[in-house]
Amino acid sequence: MPTGGLPNSRFLRACRREEVDATPVWLMRQAGRYMPDYRALRQKWGILDIIKNPELAAEVTLQPINAFDLDAAIIFADILPLLVPMGVQLEFVGGEGPVILNPVRTAADVEALRLVPPEEGVPFTLKAIELVRVELDARRIPLIGFSGAPFTLASYAIEGGGSKNHLHVKRMLMGEPAVWDALMSKLARAAGEYLLAQARAGAQALQLFDSWCGQLSPSDYGQYVLPYTRRAIDIARSGNVPVILFGVGSAGLLELLAQSGADVIGVDWRIGLRAAWDRIGPDKAIQGNLDPAALFAPWEAVQPRVDEILSQAGGQPGHIFNLGHGVLPNTPLDTVKRLVDHMHVASAR
Ligand code: CP3
Repeated sequence: MPTGGLPNSRFLRACRREEVDATPVWLMRQAGRYMPDYRALRQKWGILDIIKNPELAAEVTLQPINAFDLDAAIIFADILPLLVPMGVQLEFVGGEGPVILNPVRTAADVEALRLVPPEEGVPFTLKAIELVRVELDARRIPLIGFSGAPFTLASYAIEGGGSKNHLHVKRMLMGEPAVWDALMSKLARAAGEYLLAQARAGAQALQLFDSWCGQLSPSDYGQYVLPYTRRAIDIARSGNVPVILFGVGSAGLLELLAQSGADVIGVDWRIGLRAAWDRIGPDKAIQGNLDPAALFAPWEAVQPRVDEILSQAGGQPGHIFNLGHGVLPNTPLDTVKRLVDHMHVASAR
């Protein structure tokens, strides 16, 4: 048994469903607009400028680590820059989110997408991981790398941005299965190799964000998405670090997500943690699942909700506390601080 050191951190132990001294906590989108330090940097730089500059990306990764007693850091990046070396033209339009100028809609568009090794396509994020690991090792905090899952990458690539009904995506998935297969095969490789490269650069766990999987019926998810998510995870697995698969609106899909090969399944707040864990099965760890909007309530109203999640986890090894989706802009910093501190006290074994 190793004693001390990062492999023995609460977060990595929980990923492996080992006993911990207290429930580990980190928050999706823990670096970002709700933090004054981040907003100050964004006065000077665009989001892509920060992501492409390893020193700045490393600095932003550490901002929430400096402010709160978090059990893991997540590299500051985004899911969409991976598409750029493939030939997608990406812009972040102030406040409105990402826009893709040349959406992928036809067989020829899919054919034209290039698979570029991550060391060439997104070297800046790999460099940022190396830089930030030096700082985090000194503080004994593990680092999470991440990628968009193939379906969420496909959704942005095809729709050209956010979308309500995902009609272009579903038209391809339902009506042009060969084109869909070609696109998803490329994205599965791109995401898998990107995750593996991040593990090799020093990420100690990897998360796939499937923000849009909840748009699909279980049978469409099982047939048109799960095989490609599995493929990405298979590639990432040779990095020998735990893999977390997080889906939004996935309550109807949990048995399928559990077949992805991931070690940890991240769930949102639309299902109770206990019900979700029972469906995922005891051989997987679970991450979640406070409604991010809860952090806007007075602390006295937040605390019972947090305690309820801990009670549903029931001290079973393998719970990582998180929100059910990313931290929202304008979330009060003081509530985040109280949440993180309360987690360690309330869950102490
Ligand atoms: O968690 C972290 O602290 C790491 C940072 C991180 C960002 N994006 C930085 C970012 C992570 C993990 C992401 C993932 C991401 N990006 C997802 C999956 C998670 C989710 O929220 O569903 C998605 C769908 C994207 C795509 C994306 N990037 C959108 C839709 C937007 C605009 C809307 C929004 O949520 O802000 C972005 C921009 C973005 N990525 C910001 C940050 C901090 C805010 C933009 C800014 O600074 O101007």
